[in-house]
Order: sequence, then structure tokens, then C-alpha cells
Amino acid sequence: MERAQRLGVLTSGGDAPGMNAALRAAHRVGTALGFEVIGFEEGYRGLIEGRLQRLDASRLDDAARRGGTMLGSARSKEFITEAGQQRAKETILRERLGALLVVGGNGSLTGAQKLEGAPTFDGRNLRVAGLPASIDNDLGCTSMAIGVDTAMNTIVEACDRICDTASAHRRTFIIEVMGRDCGYLAMTSAVAAGADVVLIRELEKSDDALVDQIVLAIERAYGDPARRRLLVVKSEGVKLDSTRLKEAVDARIIPKIPDVDTRVTVLGHVVRGGSPSAFDRLLAARLANAATRALGEGESGFMAGWAGPGLPSGAGKLSPHDPYVVLTPIGEVLKETARLMDGTSDIAKWRRKIFSETEAILIG
Ligand code: F6P
Repeated sequence: MERAQRLGVLTSGGDAPGMNAALRAAHRVGTALGFEVIGFEEGYRGLIEGRLQRLDASRLDDAARRGGTMLGSARSKEFITEAGQQRAKETILRERLGALLVVGGNGSLTGAQKLEGAPTFDGRNLRVAGLPASIDNDLGCTSMAIGVDTAMNTIVEACDRICDTASAHRRTFIIEVMGRDCGYLAMTSAVAAGADVVLIRELEKSDDALVDQIVLAIERAYGDPARRRLLVVKSEGVKLDSTRLKEAVDARIIPKIPDVDTRVTVLGHVVRGGSPSAFDRLLAARLANAATRALGEGESGFMAGWAGPGLPSGAGKLSPHDPYVVLTPIGEVLKETARLMDGTSDIAKWRRKIFSETEAILIG
């Protein structure tokens, strides 16, 4: 490389633990490859406004242990418009970017696709790459997104704590966990936490059926004197409000078993924060390493995903730098994500099957 090319990095959309570890790895690898690595603040908002910072290795070392994102994140409304994208392209020219690495979810990858090929200062075209980061695990073409493992661990720890007090008082708890349209977090953490009932959007149950499910579980639990607690994990994607769900359950169960005491805990943003797990730090570092190297080799327009079950066959190619990293064109990722969300992809069907089987076992 003649003069150091500039690699821009940004984090966008809902933050996810491990984003900082991805930035650290992109900076380290990028610098070693001869890039000058710069960070844009608050995702596409910072790109539009030209707000950037030189990344500092020791700050990144420190940040990599922490959740959130040291660059800040945003869901930019302006970037969705043609005018916003034009302003971002002007920044790309002015700031002499040769490549851009976007860390985020579905919306963030859609944004990256809009910028691919934008003119650069030296008459070439902007190379772009994406890293999947979303605690919901709602992206196609990666078996895990950055942040999912930490969020799962946070939920399990919260459930364990709630179990202690629930058992002491023989109570039922409805615990609502994040996952806008995707029940992955609820289901996996429910299994890991030893929950009794799990409610997810994907099974498309009516409100009455959800209430029936909890009522049945409570009746069984109260029939067994050894059972001291009942844990219901409910995904945010299930639109019935958790307090209303509790009231509907009470209305059915209290006339039969007056002692039943049901409480609601909404974990909310607690699930998204916190120090990234070792797995998320490593996942972020490996994805960033493979993506940055591919950008350095002239590749563009791909997302670096984690290999594993459920990836659509033939959509991507293995990174020559890491046998666990698959590079898939962003267009394919977006299509597969849409299929994951509308339930038509193989992985969506597989998840629904597993969810149903798991639910049957939980109900017993
Ligand atoms: O996309 C991740 C996520 O945490 C979802 O689980 C949740 O529905 C959403 O973001 C919340 O976003 P915000 O913090 O903007 O309300």
C-alpha cells in the first residue's frame, strides 16, 4: 500500500456486549496491515456529520472488557434518506476512506450495502464489510451474533437469583427478556436456567393459549409439595403485556388455588449491558480479524459470520484466515435474515421444531 489507506469503523443499532472487542481487533489487525484505522461516533449519524476519532490502542484494550460501545451507537433516521446517504458519501471522500467496517444488526448491514462502491478520494470504490452484532441472534448467515452469549449468561444469572427468592416463598415468576422479534434468547436461556414454561412469538399462540399454558404448569406444580417455585420465561416478542398476562393467570388460578402468588420481572436493558463473556470477546475478535484481512485483500460487500449449523449452503465462502468464519455477500445475509424472521428459512423451521419439542418437555 503506497500511502496508508484509511479504514473507518462504526457501531450501529442496538449495542451488544463485544462490540468494543470487535473494534479493538479491527484496529490491531488493520494497523498491522498498514491501514490507518479511524472510528466514527454514534454509527451512521457520526458518518453523516463527519464526527470521527483516532482510535487509541490502550483505550481499546480497556474498552474491550466492557459492554456498550466506546464509539457510541444510534439508529440514524437521517441515514435512511437519500440525502443522509449522500452526506455520508461526502464524508467518505473528504476523510479519504478506502474501506468501512460496520458492526451491528440488520439495519446496520442494510446501511453498509448502500455505501458499497461509493467513490473514494483516489478514484476507487469504497470497500465495505459487516460484523453481526445483536443480542437477539436474529441475523441470517451466522450461527451466533456478537453479544448473544453474554445476554444469555445475564438472563441465566438473573433467573438463578430469582429462583432463590421464588423458592423461599413458593412463588411463580414471569420473567420477560429482550428479543424484539426473535425468541432465541428466551428459549436458550430458559433451558439453561431450568425454567418451567417459555413463551415465544414464533409459536404464534393466542393470548388465551399462553394463559392456559401457565395455569396448567401452576396446577401441576401445586400438586407436588416438593415444587417450591415456577419460572416462566417470556420473550419480549410475545406482545401480550406481562402484567396483563399475570392478571389473566390470577383470574383463572386464584379461585382454584388461593395461595398462588405470581410476580413479574421485566429484565429489559439489563440484558443488553455488562461485560462481554470470554466467548463474545473471542467471537468479536475472530470475526473482526477475518473481515479486516479480507478488506485488506480487496474484498468488499460481505458480512463475516460464525460458521455452525443452519447456515444456508453455498451462500458464503470460508475465510482463508479462519475456518470458523464465513464471508457472505450482504445482500444474501439480508435475504436470509428476512426468511429467518418470517419463518420460511431452514434455520427458522428448525428453531420452531426445536422450540416446540423443548416446550413439550418443559410442560412435561
Ligand atoms: O435489537 C436488540 C434489542 O435489544 C431488542 O432486543 C430490543 O427490542 C431493542 O433492541 C430495544 O431497543 P431500544 O434500546 O432502542 O429500545
